[in-house]
Amino acid sequence: MTRPDEEAITQAVIARFGQTPDPRLKTIVTELTRSLHGFVQAVEPTFDEWLAAIRFLTEVGQMSTGSRQEFILLSDTLGVSMLVDAINHRQAEGVTESTVLGPFFVETAPSLPDGVDIASGEAGEPLYVEVTIADLDGRPVADAEIDVWQSDAEGFYDVQREGLETHSLRARLTSGPDGRARFWSILPTPYPIPDDGPVGRMLQATRRHPWRPAHLHFKISTPDREPLITHLFVRDSAYLDSDAVFGVKDTLICDFPSHPAGVAPDGRMLDRPWRSLEHAFRLPLRK
Ligand code: BEZ
Ligand code: FE
Repeated sequence: MTRPDEEAITQAVIARFGQTPDPRLKTIVTELTRSLHGFVQAVEPTFDEWLAAIRFLTEVGQMSTGSRQEFILLSDTLGVSMLVDAINHRQAEGVTESTVLGPFFVETAPSLPDGVDIASGEAGEPLYVEVTIADLDGRPVADAEIDVWQSDAEGFYDVQREGLETHSLRARLTSGPDGRARFWSILPTPYPIPDDGPVGRMLQATRRHPWRPAHLHFKISTPDREPLITHLFVRDSAYLDSDAVFGVKDTLICDFPSHPAGVAPDGRMLDRPWRSLEHAFRLPLRK
């Protein structure tokens, strides 16, 4: 039970926001006040605990730079990113489900031709990927821009590797008239999200691990639809049931069958076993 004198503080703050002219902003600041005061009522922090919370958020800000966004990691690890994604993608049945963008998307990925090998000599198990882009009726979507990016065999994205001048394990492809695009890569492996900052300390203090299951990222853009931002997860990967950022959805878990050394579907001769992935993406309805 909230004491009347304490409830009066909450009501005073809400009343003070009463003249906010923008109705959306008014809803936001009113609900923020209600939720934040409700949280404080539930937790009843000591002064030291409240100061620790302020120090923690200060460090989250201080850790953030152009290439390291600790607030997004905090949002991701608290499940808020996935909740905002879910609220904004109450899609028609059959549309490919979305998941987190993550911090390693690069706007300026190189446009590369169909069939390209994006692994450029990286160590790892060869992977042949063929995706189809289609609308909800199954009609192929030509000229979709397909951004793909993934980590290397050690769990790092190219942008995390100091001294790496070129892009690796990322590309922008374009779907053909049949809606298809193909590329070679390597099988992704699980990796930990950056955990050397305050978010990592939060994970450790709460006995949570920082690992994400193995996945490839996709962002599929067409001129007349919202982009589809999603992953495809490797079915036999570790951490599928405990992703540090809650991004796994059953419909995004795919088979990556193994094949013996020999000729691949595009005629490439492989001297070692390789894996493949085939997936049909169903795009959201037009805007
Ligand atoms: C990623 O999959 O790249 C990622 C997503 C959220 C936080 C960190 C990494
Ligand atoms: Fe990732």
